[in-house]
Amino acid sequence: MTHSNTPSTLVMIFGATGDLAKRKLFPSLYHLYQKGRISKEFAVIGVARRDWSDEKFKEHVKSSVLNAIGTSENIDEFVSHFYYQSHDVSDSDSYQALKNLATELDERYQTNGNRIFYLAMAPEFFGTITDHLKADGLTDTSGYKRLVIEKPFGHNLESAEELNNRIRESFTEDQIYRIDHYLGKEMVQNIEVIRFANAFFEPLWNNRYISNIQVTSSEELGVEERGRYYEKSGALRDMVQNHMLQMVALLAMEPPIKLTTEEIRSEKVKVFRALRPLKDDEVDQYFVRGQYDKGVSKGQKVRGYREEENVDPSSNTETYVAGKLMIDNFRWAGVPFYIRTGKRMETKSTKIVIQFKDIPMNLYYGMDKPLAPNLLVIHIQPEEGITLHLNAKKSGQIIETTPVKLNFANTSIDAMNTPEAYEKLLHDCMRGDATNFTHWDEVKLSWAYVDEISKVWEATRDVNFPNYEAGSVGPKAADELLAKDHFHWWPILDLDVDQC
Ligand code: BG6
Repeated sequence: MTHSNTPSTLVMIFGATGDLAKRKLFPSLYHLYQKGRISKEFAVIGVARRDWSDEKFKEHVKSSVLNAIGTSENIDEFVSHFYYQSHDVSDSDSYQALKNLATELDERYQTNGNRIFYLAMAPEFFGTITDHLKADGLTDTSGYKRLVIEKPFGHNLESAEELNNRIRESFTEDQIYRIDHYLGKEMVQNIEVIRFANAFFEPLWNNRYISNIQVTSSEELGVEERGRYYEKSGALRDMVQNHMLQMVALLAMEPPIKLTTEEIRSEKVKVFRALRPLKDDEVDQYFVRGQYDKGVSKGQKVRGYREEENVDPSSNTETYVAGKLMIDNFRWAGVPFYIRTGKRMETKSTKIVIQFKDIPMNLYYGMDKPLAPNLLVIHIQPEEGITLHLNAKKSGQIIETTPVKLNFANTSIDAMNTPEAYEKLLHDCMRGDATNFTHWDEVKLSWAYVDEISKVWEATRDVNFPNYEAGSVGPKAADELLAKDHFHWWPILDLDVDQC
């Protein structure tokens, strides 16, 4: 194992006994360690309320890694870098104790005072923690200090602004790493490469050749044990404000002049600024909401959203959103970007379909019928790859066309699984690369867009919920949204790489 020149660092994980740390953070750190991507001189302090010992914490980290990855090579050496501090987020004495431990570990591991504060816990504590980190001297360090912050970043523009102002009293914008884990996904990162490293896409990537773009992120699971959070969030805040809009920005942005964090962000921000805002009476023409009813998922009967734990039996929270976004700039004027996301849908899948405009006429046999349109499909998950849908000659005497698919499956090239989003994002943060984190300007503009929709939805209580069966493709109204424009959703299951 060779260890990289990523600067040595001390990572403090607030919420270290929680689910995110267990499922994502520890396994990601382990992967980075095993691949030699983090400096050998690193230490992690798990910070949480429970009264655990270092030993108990190390055992917890060990079992999290084993559960997630199933291997244990070098695990003892790995967990020897982990420490635990029982902590009360609003008590200065707790921060003092944390500071003493941090200073000791800084020295022991020669971390040069580099510190990452990772807030993997309930958002109501974000402000309190950052206030204390500054007031109690944890940010007084000779090395870099970076704050990694999980979503939700606010509940609307107003609360996000409040939170941002508070955090900014302790950290500067360039020290803040706001996580959107979709930006760590291999194929989301590939969008820019596909667009900007190929001669034949970029010239066509505009309203002269593209008729519409569809971004779908569907989930099979329901709300699980997150009812309390989800009731206040719904799919609009949970998925659209962040992940869906980020994918739209990457698809729509202009080529940056350089691949620097600032240049890429500045192009994404321009997309958000060009998003056509919706007036109150337009929301229903552009957006559809849904809520799942009982149904069958993976052969099992499942309950409806209103029957889930910690959910109001007459809840009007949406578990599905479909929308049509217009980007009012020269490149995209007239091209709808359709997005849809939902829980308890027929399959777990994130895909982007770029549909090209029809060519002027069909010269071939069956010329009275239009040719199938060319599609570029970007498979984000679970499979990763690209498919290009073309028309070719059908074998035989008659010159007749047939649709064919050119496939590239990402995993087949490396013959291994691509790294997890969190692994990449943690590594980026350690290296000080904030490109795949969201800048405040992006967060602000996406909240402003989404707030218009939630304002109208929250004011209309007579919603026809539930309106789609669990295990289905979502509400009918989502089909009508596209039918009005003479388009239709490309069926997700038919687009699978494996079926090509
Ligand atoms: C999270 C949402 O941000 O993304 C969850 O809070 C959702 O509700 C999840 O399930 C989806 O992420 P992925 O990577 O499984 O598509």
